[in-house]
Amino acid sequence: MEKLKNLFKAKADAQAAELKELLKEHGTKKIGEVQLAQAFQGMRGVTGMVYETSLLDSNEGIRFRGFSIPELQAKLPKAKGGTEPLPEGIFYLMLTGEIPTDADVAELSAEWRKRSPIPTHAFKAIDALPPDTHPMTQVMTGILCMQTDSVFAKEYAKGANKKDYWSYVYEDSMNMIASLPQVAAYVYRRKYHGGKTIAPDPQLDWGANFAHMLGYDTEGFRELMRLYMTIHADHEGGNVSAHTSHLVGSALADPYLSFTAAMAGLAGPLHGLANQEVIKWIFAMQKDLGVEVPSKEQIETYVKKMLADGKVVPGYGHAVLRKTDPRFTAQMDFAKKHMPNDPAVKTVWAIYEAVPPILQSLGKIKNPWPNVDAHSGALLVHYGMKEYEFYTVLFGVSRALGVQAAQIWSRALGFPIERPKSVTIQNVKDWLAGKDEIWE
Ligand SMILES: CC(C)(COP(=O)(O)OP(=O)(O)OC[C@H]1O[C@@H](n2cnc3c(N)ncnc32)[C@H](O)[C@@H]1OP(=O)(O)O)[C@@H](O)C(=O)NCCC(=O)NCCS
Repeated sequence: MEKLKNLFKAKADAQAAELKELLKEHGTKKIGEVQLAQAFQGMRGVTGMVYETSLLDSNEGIRFRGFSIPELQAKLPKAKGGTEPLPEGIFYLMLTGEIPTDADVAELSAEWRKRSPIPTHAFKAIDALPPDTHPMTQVMTGILCMQTDSVFAKEYAKGANKKDYWSYVYEDSMNMIASLPQVAAYVYRRKYHGGKTIAPDPQLDWGANFAHMLGYDTEGFRELMRLYMTIHADHEGGNVSAHTSHLVGSALADPYLSFTAAMAGLAGPLHGLANQEVIKWIFAMQKDLGVEVPSKEQIETYVKKMLADGKVVPGYGHAVLRKTDPRFTAQMDFAKKHMPNDPAVKTVWAIYEAVPPILQSLGKIKNPWPNVDAHSGALLVHYGMKEYEFYTVLFGVSRALGVQAAQIWSRALGFPIERPKSVTIQNVKDWLAGKDEIWE
């Protein structure tokens, strides 16, 4: 796969040269102001990092290298007989900025197949955990243990030239992405199928092989995995998992370390864990109401009580997006095509009708619309994957594509260690009283 690496190198060299000139000429221009409230409120709206692989428009949703999700669905290569994009394609696009050909994607599939061996101690470490340990903890353990194979860590210890860092991060990223489906499937089979693992099928593409190792061999589930792995891959740089990867990687922690950290962030219920929360909530609502598909009116009453009890509606709202998430829409379109009469899917759609006006009426929620997590669980349940604690792992395997492509870029462009300034409340109070400055 030297071709992809060489293509990246040529693009990165050109970009680095351009960036040097750009910063020389415009480096002192202001790109924003930070208000006091923003420092206390999660730095919303503070533009302070560069992350190459995707950009979020708060109304239109995510664009990967300028392409929207519907555009990607049309342009990226598909499996033979399939209609969903192959995840290999989105990685190639994020890394190079170019839409790959069928041959490029086939080459990448073959490369990842070749790179997938995993050190046995990673499986042993997972086996040392109680089987009912949350799948995210088990998978993070496996990834962390693969760190012993880090090319970056070994080369750094030998005294690598900083101009070559990106190359070792590239090698680690490719190896890790290749291995992740097997580690994740191992955890799934261990936790839910008595440890009966399924060997990889060398004929399959990365997404289909993941489906196969999990134990789902229908064409429908393979297509779902390809779509799922594509649309969850990246969401610009400021979200918790991407930002964590960016931050930890900036300390030159190798990709196994930085990705484990990113996965820990993804395991938070306000971030990636929301997808398990959504289906858990739907199951609870179905049980409480005693119906398989609750009506819009029943959902309205149920949700109003939840809000009165101080709970959040999982799968709704977003820190940046202000419209229905196109990743939700892509999954809704998939459901319309493959399973329009599925009860969990119909419940998701009834929630979509009932919830936004209620959230809007509260007057404080900036985005009453569904996000990516509002739909994914219902699709998985349809194919029989009801073990919702595993859902965030699927999200994580996909997220590796985006954050690792971004990290290869960060090292190639020589981005330094990230270190924003913080202040104390006392410093703020003294500044407001005219007794001190805000420390810079
Ligand atoms: C995603 C999320 C964390 C964004 O948070 P945020 O940027 O602080 O959102 P907002 O600025 O709109 O929040 C304003 C208020 O509305 C509340 N709110 C936001 N989304 C809500 C939801 N889905 N249900 C109930 N209340 C919600 C917030 O808790 C906050 O309340 P507060 O002022 O009493 O603290 C938030 O919308 C949420 O918790 N959603 C549910 C979890 C989820 O789906 N996460 C996955 C995101 S991809």
